[in-house]
Amino acid sequence: MVKISSKNFKVPRPFLKWAGGKTQLLLELEKRLPQSILNSGIIEKYVEPFVGGGAMFFFLKRNYQVKHSILIDINPELILTYRVLQDDHLKLIDKLNDMEDEHLRKSEESRKENYYHIRSLYNRQMDVIDYDKYVPEWIHRAAYLIFLNKTCFNGLFRSNSNGEFNVPFGRYKNPTICDEVNLQYVHQALKKTELLCADFTRAEEFIEKDTLVYLDPPYRPLNSTSHFTRYSSEGFDDEDQMKLAKFYKKMDQNGSNLILSNSDPKNHDINDNFFDELYNGYNIQRVLAKRNINSKTSRRGEIKELIIRNY
Ligand SMILES: C[S@@+](CC[C@H](N)C(=O)[O-])C[C@H]1O[C@@H](n2cnc3c(N)ncnc32)[C@H](O)[C@@H]1O
Repeated sequence: MVKISSKNFKVPRPFLKWAGGKTQLLLELEKRLPQSILNSGIIEKYVEPFVGGGAMFFFLKRNYQVKHSILIDINPELILTYRVLQDDHLKLIDKLNDMEDEHLRKSEESRKENYYHIRSLYNRQMDVIDYDKYVPEWIHRAAYLIFLNKTCFNGLFRSNSNGEFNVPFGRYKNPTICDEVNLQYVHQALKKTELLCADFTRAEEFIEKDTLVYLDPPYRPLNSTSHFTRYSSEGFDDEDQMKLAKFYKKMDQNGSNLILSNSDPKNHDINDNFFDELYNGYNIQRVLAKRNINSKTSRRGEIKELIIRNY
């Protein structure tokens, strides 16, 4: 049975908690949408090449008529889960409801055991799953991922260098594992949406005049010893940022509307002009956003984010 609660108020919304999720920035981004979209409420074509948890995509779906969308991310587990929500949401909801019932019936200690059991099933499945071909096992995998995201410590997706999910158990009183109403709305939102597991450059073939493109790449990691970051935990270093700026300039040529967000390196070093130089000539604005800068709640603070538009 569908549980209606005040939590179901804003739907559809991200079904996963995702590192760098942009919920805090949505109103600032909305203010900066092209005037024609603000006036008409219609987005003919939307492309998001770093979709992650999709805070902006779901926000636009809630508030605008988005006619056609293309969502891209390089993370195969994420795109697999979106695809299951697109094609098999009812089976996914059934599986998640069963998992939730079983989990919440247990004592705290048994929940912990159950969590590690699911985590190990998920990690073992990685060797046999075919990410290119949709098979029923995808439904289980998507359910495991959502379960782990809702019950792990800090609720994030993180894997080690072998790709194994390695976040420890999180203690929650009564976690909602199957947010059925939202998942139904997410399924609706994913109609007329193409999903691709690919590098952001694949977006090129979909971007044309008037396409709205929102780009939210991984944050530029801080490196206290050098301003040039060659390696990053997410595999997105300064060379990738430069490749992205080149891509941005190319897409600018074809009349699309580009909005890019990024952390502002000036939060930590006022002289760091990395993005100001990279996007010189574009509309660069700095806005305040709340960000969970590390896992300790006391370190949550307001910092500046960059919003860079070509209009
Ligand atoms: C900051 S997160 C996006 C968060 C998203 N805006 C949200 O609200 O959840 C960046 C995303 O880029 C993806 N990513 C990293 N490198 C990529 C690449 N080369 N091409 C496409 N996606 C990439 C990551 O998997 C991650 O999901």
